[in-house]
Amino acid sequence: MSDTAAPRRRRPATELVHGGSLRSQFGEMSEALFLTQGFAYADAEAAEARFKGDDPGFIYSRFSNPTVWMFEERMRLLEGAGAARAVASGMAAVTAAMLAMLKAGDHVVAAKALFSSCRYVVEELLPRFGVASTLVDGTDLDQWRDAVRPETKAFFLESPTNPTLEVIDIEAVATIAHEAGARLVVDNVFATPLWQKPIALGADVVIYSATKHIDGQGRCLGGVILADETYVNDHLHNFLRQTGPSMSPFNAWVLLKGLETLEVRVRRQTETAARLADQIAAHPKVTRLIYPGRADHPQANIVARQMQGGSNLLAFEVEGGKEAAYRVADALEIVKISNNLGDAKSLVTHPSTTTHQRLTEEVRLGFGITQGMLRLSVGLEDPEDLAEDIAAALDAA
Ligand SMILES: Cc1ncc(COP(=O)(O)O)c(C=O)c1O
Repeated sequence: MSDTAAPRRRRPATELVHGGSLRSQFGEMSEALFLTQGFAYADAEAAEARFKGDDPGFIYSRFSNPTVWMFEERMRLLEGAGAARAVASGMAAVTAAMLAMLKAGDHVVAAKALFSSCRYVVEELLPRFGVASTLVDGTDLDQWRDAVRPETKAFFLESPTNPTLEVIDIEAVATIAHEAGARLVVDNVFATPLWQKPIALGADVVIYSATKHIDGQGRCLGGVILADETYVNDHLHNFLRQTGPSMSPFNAWVLLKGLETLEVRVRRQTETAARLADQIAAHPKVTRLIYPGRADHPQANIVARQMQGGSNLLAFEVEGGKEAAYRVADALEIVKISNNLGDAKSLVTHPSTTTHQRLTEEVRLGFGITQGMLRLSVGLEDPEDLAEDIAAALDAA
């Protein structure tokens, strides 16, 4: 191949293993862990050049670090984004992505079906700094349109939503946002980078809690923000550098290792979840099951158009409210009760008393979280064992 040939685009599974690797002079195979705060300069002139930006090397790990850079670059290649920045947690990613581009007097429109900490950012934190917000039913495009004001600068949504797995038409919402001169920010945690590509659908900023599937083994917190270079250079870069919600190099190293197996894990977890969804839906004690990928999903046509796979998450409601839901959770032996998701271990959550406990019952019911609802994050256990565990637990409802 000649030197001028364009580099061949690699498919996601290949990027997940090799993308962004930076090798030191030792030629190590596994990515090196640069557990260092700072970097030494050959002389004072070199330090000055680094700070001026004339020499692109590393300065201080609050700004950037080689291991963190490798994680960012791997994520950037996977997502097909112009730039990526890693931060300490998913919530640091949501908060930084919003605060970095907004100022007093601006207005945000967000879907009301949000993880409760994300609702805190939109409903309570931003207004304290003079940024007004309006919450809409994310599945109703007219509500997005009607909420726009001259000062609207950002739209924010998650899809599928936590925990009701509602799917929002990202392409249509992006069009409304752009007509209003606003940026669309998408929290893509539930879809994973494998099953939904918000940037290709028109989103401007994509966020992940890397704590979930990207680690996938319940070890550390992390977050990542992906966008075009203009947004990162004009807004995010300086905000992160000066305020410091940095990702630890150790966590970046763990997450790089997590990425290597992301495709195999998520594919297997999704296959098992689809099978368990059918089993759970057929149980007489189950009054409702929501799984993107089934024909009875409320937005099945949007799922078919914008997602390349379902999810490893499903939500279901049992007859008998909270007591029945607790009986199911307590009867599970292999599936553990926890609030994380995307883990190798299958986890069950009762959203109204845990992840969404902060909200009032009225708000929760407003987006479909009932007392009888459980959220299941399907792990890597043998699908037969999970099917047996869940069948026995549902019988206990
Ligand atoms: C949809 C969604 N967004 C953001 C977050 C926050 O991620 P983290 O816990 O890494 O801060 C979560 C965590 O549960 C989530 O489910």
